[in-house]
Amino acid sequence: MPSQQVFNLGQESAHYTTSSGAPVSEPYAAQRAGQLGPLLLQDFHHIDLLAHFDRERIPERVVHAKGAGAHGYFEVTEDLSDITSNPLLTSKGKKVKATARFSTVGGESGSPDTARDPRGFAIKLRTEEGNWDWVFNNTPVFFIRDPAKFPHFIHTQKRDPQTHLKDADMFWDYLGQNPESIHQIMILFSDRGTPDGYHNQHGYSGHTYKWFKKDGSFVYTQLHVRARNGFKTLSNAEAGKLAGENPEYGIQSMFEAIEAGKPPTWDVFVQTMTPSQAEQFRYNVLDLTKVWPHAEFPLRPVGKLVLDENPQNYFAEIEQAAFSPSHLVPYIEPSADPVLQSRLFSYPDTHRHRLGVNYQQLPVNAPIVPVANFQRDGPGTFVSQGARPNYQSSIAPLKYVGAPGTLEGGVRDFEREAKHETFVGAAFRDLSEITELDFEQPRALWSKVWNDAQREAYVQNVAGHFGNVKSKEVRARQLSVWAAVDQGLSDRIAKAVGAPTVKPLQAKPANEAVKFRANIGVYTSV
Ligand code: HEM
Repeated sequence: MPSQQVFNLGQESAHYTTSSGAPVSEPYAAQRAGQLGPLLLQDFHHIDLLAHFDRERIPERVVHAKGAGAHGYFEVTEDLSDITSNPLLTSKGKKVKATARFSTVGGESGSPDTARDPRGFAIKLRTEEGNWDWVFNNTPVFFIRDPAKFPHFIHTQKRDPQTHLKDADMFWDYLGQNPESIHQIMILFSDRGTPDGYHNQHGYSGHTYKWFKKDGSFVYTQLHVRARNGFKTLSNAEAGKLAGENPEYGIQSMFEAIEAGKPPTWDVFVQTMTPSQAEQFRYNVLDLTKVWPHAEFPLRPVGKLVLDENPQNYFAEIEQAAFSPSHLVPYIEPSADPVLQSRLFSYPDTHRHRLGVNYQQLPVNAPIVPVANFQRDGPGTFVSQGARPNYQSSIAPLKYVGAPGTLEGGVRDFEREAKHETFVGAAFRDLSEITELDFEQPRALWSKVWNDAQREAYVQNVAGHFGNVKSKEVRARQLSVWAAVDQGLSDRIAKAVGAPTVKPLQAKPANEAVKFRANIGVYTSV
């Protein structure tokens, strides 16, 4: 089993010892002075046991605390050399080891797996050029396109500061004031908001990335990871019942599928868009609340992901896994999507808090290639980099990418590949401006994509949650957002929750949309 190799975990029987390896004859006994006397300070076993127990918990993830994970592999099944020079994606047939973690977002680590929530869909690919993390969700869009809103929005799903209760008014109050969230709300309150387990669902990069070639050309990309068995969902009633009867339903069903030799499998696809297509595209390619229509930008096969191995130890191999959108590999770069840019900072920052400064040295996070740099020491240093100088020594220098004639082949001879562009432009703040463009894709879901049964399920799913809102203003504001999607939709929800009908909010016409398109500012090659 790969994880046993990675973690050196034998299943053979072992002698009970202290943490320093000394055998202990009575694991359940504390030393005391005589029959009724106090305990002895010399009893290292007992102190060692308690002191470690006192420190067993690390902070849970501030979001995505509840989840399940497994190991497996990703295989590249196509030749993609026409759109990227990334060594993995240009090696058809190559397999790399992978670790995946799926999660709900808002609840604590003990919350039910079937909660209505987006699902996190995180994958760590162990490539020969370092770890490449796909930190995706199971929805192709997100609630925001201005990252400054993220903590506020998340707070509205956490507990009220005073009552310590979740609060429907907070949640819908935020959404009604920030209508760019409506596309995600359409998806979240469809049955996609309650997937049937962690492994029967698709994952989406959501964000636009850039895939490069050695000649400096690039395409914008969006990745889609599609469950081979389809995206299976639960009804609101089924999800609610399971939340009470088996809150661990998702963890259990994925673990059992893998143990039964039915490894969850996904087919990976990419959508691509050239920079000039991006200029012409109706929507901003950096806007995380929009999708790229498949008819215009077809799904192109990339490879497959298979999870065929359960962890031996959940805490070591899954809880300590640190996924970050900034863990990228050569020829794959982030776009200027502001939410993505913000995430590039946030994840390693929280990892240093959650796992410590040397989180990349933990076995589940350590790259399969040797790390060579000038980072040294700190708590939990496992990999010392030996006797190598801790500065750029002229006697034993570290070779680096772009140093002529130093490292050969592949990406290593591609000079400064991460700095192909310079941005010059004015600071730009109105990312949340609402225009008619924001309602087109939600309207298409409601009026074209869904059938009558799906429309009815949406109305009932919304009513079950939105019906708990007490404030008339909050209700009316959110109903005006739905009315901007479709008046009939809004009226049906109003009726279902016993609220008066309202008119649509006023959005700017589509042709007045300020587009922070890829061509805003000046891009120059260096
Ligand atoms: C987890 C921040 C948006 C997907 C997290 C964590 C933080 C965070 C701090 C906890 C990480 C950890 O403790 O290891 C943010 C911020 C966002 C944002 C600041 C926007 C400004 C998104 C978006 C997606 C996403 C748009 C998907 C497209 C995930 C996933 C996890 C996660 C999958 C769980 C990773 C795991 O299983 O360890 N996020 N997030 N997040 N986030 Fe985000």
